[in-house]
Amino acid sequence: MSGLFVTFEGPDGSGKTTQIQKLADYCRAKGYAVVQTREPGGTLISEKIRALILDVNTPEMDDVTEALLYAAARAQHVSQVIRPALKRGDIVLCDRFVDSSIAYQGHARGLGAGVAEINAFAVQGLEPDLTFFLELDPEAGLKRIRKNSNFDRLEQETLAFHRRVNEGYELLRRQYADRYKVVDAAVSEDVLALEIRRIFEVWLAARHSV
Ligand code: TYD
Repeated sequence: MSGLFVTFEGPDGSGKTTQIQKLADYCRAKGYAVVQTREPGGTLISEKIRALILDVNTPEMDDVTEALLYAAARAQHVSQVIRPALKRGDIVLCDRFVDSSIAYQGHARGLGAGVAEINAFAVQGLEPDLTFFLELDPEAGLKRIRKNSNFDRLEQETLAFHRRVNEGYELLRRQYADRYKVVDAAVSEDVLALEIRRIFEVWLAARHSV
């Protein structure tokens, strides 16, 4: 049996982390085995790479280096955590995946199609079964983040950069319309959690009926 691979995407400040926690709690209460993880990160090696990428003291980081580091962190995460969990039949809830690299590095940084290529190599064909997109105006997202003084190297980017990220996501939403579920992240945490739960249940039921 193979598990379910569910990813969460969206702009910085859209509240993915809280929503993943809420969906994980819900699924566990229903008796599912759930692995809750994030990118960049999820393994010791990937968390070390994360610290390197997000370090505000390395503004000189080349865009290609950045893209390769995200892909390297992802390769380790897929082989060490995600694939074994899916093989066990678990539900994997992952905060960001390849689509983040396509939106941030491919589109907003302007690196283009090479980003999809290095990521195809990094993940060896793994694709999410379902992706929740937490839709929020980039300006509202940045406002939420800037309440917290410890923002990272990517969060320090300009509003123009975050608008380009959003454009990148718009293309992905069209390209992968079958797996993308877009939800309004401007509502309260509890309302959003209920909406995500409802969509997840409908999707699960449809999957079981085929
Ligand atoms: P994340 O921890 O998800 O931040 P947040 O909770 O604020 O959304 O991701 C860290 C940053 O890394 C975030 O600004 C998005 C960026 N990122 C990329 O640029 N490319 C990637 O492939 C991933 C996974 C994240």
